[in-house]
Amino acid sequence: MSNTTDIIQSINSIKWQRRAVILAHNYQPGEVQDIADFVGDSLELSQQAAQVQADVIVFCGVHFMAETANILSPHKTILLPDPTAGCPMADMINADALRTKKQDLLGVPVVCYVNSSAAVKAESDICCTSANAIKVVESLPQQEILFVPDQYLGQWVASQTGKKLHLWTGSCPTHANILPQHILEMKKRYPNAKVMVHPECRPEVDALADAIPSTSGMLRYAKQIEARQIIVGTEISLLHRLQKEIPDKEFLPINPQAVCPNMKLTTLDKILHCLEELQPQVIVPEEIRIRAYAAVERMLQVV
Ligand code: 13P
Ligand code: SF4
Repeated sequence: MSNTTDIIQSINSIKWQRRAVILAHNYQPGEVQDIADFVGDSLELSQQAAQVQADVIVFCGVHFMAETANILSPHKTILLPDPTAGCPMADMINADALRTKKQDLLGVPVVCYVNSSAAVKAESDICCTSANAIKVVESLPQQEILFVPDQYLGQWVASQTGKKLHLWTGSCPTHANILPQHILEMKKRYPNAKVMVHPECRPEVDALADAIPSTSGMLRYAKQIEARQIIVGTEISLLHRLQKEIPDKEFLPINPQAVCPNMKLTTLDKILHCLEELQPQVIVPEEIRIRAYAAVERMLQVV
């Protein structure tokens, strides 16, 4: 099918037949965000996955997000339009390596960023997202914590909580490409603009920012502040949502090359196809799911 309007019509009609909802992350291509029933950050999407009344969830995002939906809602069919949409940072840790590290740090609780596989979550005490990482770490009585896999998010959380965080050396290649010199150049060109960056950015980048929120936190921050120009340090497709919901302000990407190729694998064609075939599904093996559920559910109790 070639005509976009026809594809969207077909998606909408099959969606009702399947009792399906479409959830999309803030980094999805604009045309995917526009047809979704709900667009949000990782935390909001997991809350939606847990609560939404539907038989089928089309998860427009990457693999770990669809896994989290299955962990929380095992009786719903979770579809990932492109099964190869992964997250390189999530692949920087696996359950075996984490078990070995836990042996070295016996008794130290593990906080795992939601950008991780279900098997890694199953080895963790509690999950967090960029929206609640500080709250989650503060909720633990211990002063010493093993934080995996994002070293930059971990460094930021350590600086905000004063706790000793043992860091894994993972990071997001897309956010690691956002550099201090990019911000300095932008600030020179737009001296009145405010700067917001995602906590997956390097600490040198965080140091130059006015705010360090999650992707949906950026939307809230941009709505609240007076500034008319806002410099944005995260994956480029968030600008679609920012500009759409706040049309009277100007959003300027710090680095227009900050693209997550995995997030761009979702297309309208693939969404239609997965709704027709009810494939590809994401199903976490039950033994792992139960243990991962405990870590995700503990996080949802904190926020
Ligand atoms: P948010 O939870 O802030 O949306 O971030 C998810 C993510 O993958 C950032 O790279
Ligand atoms: Fe993973 Fe980075 Fe893409 Fe987020 S932006 S899904 S952390 S690779």
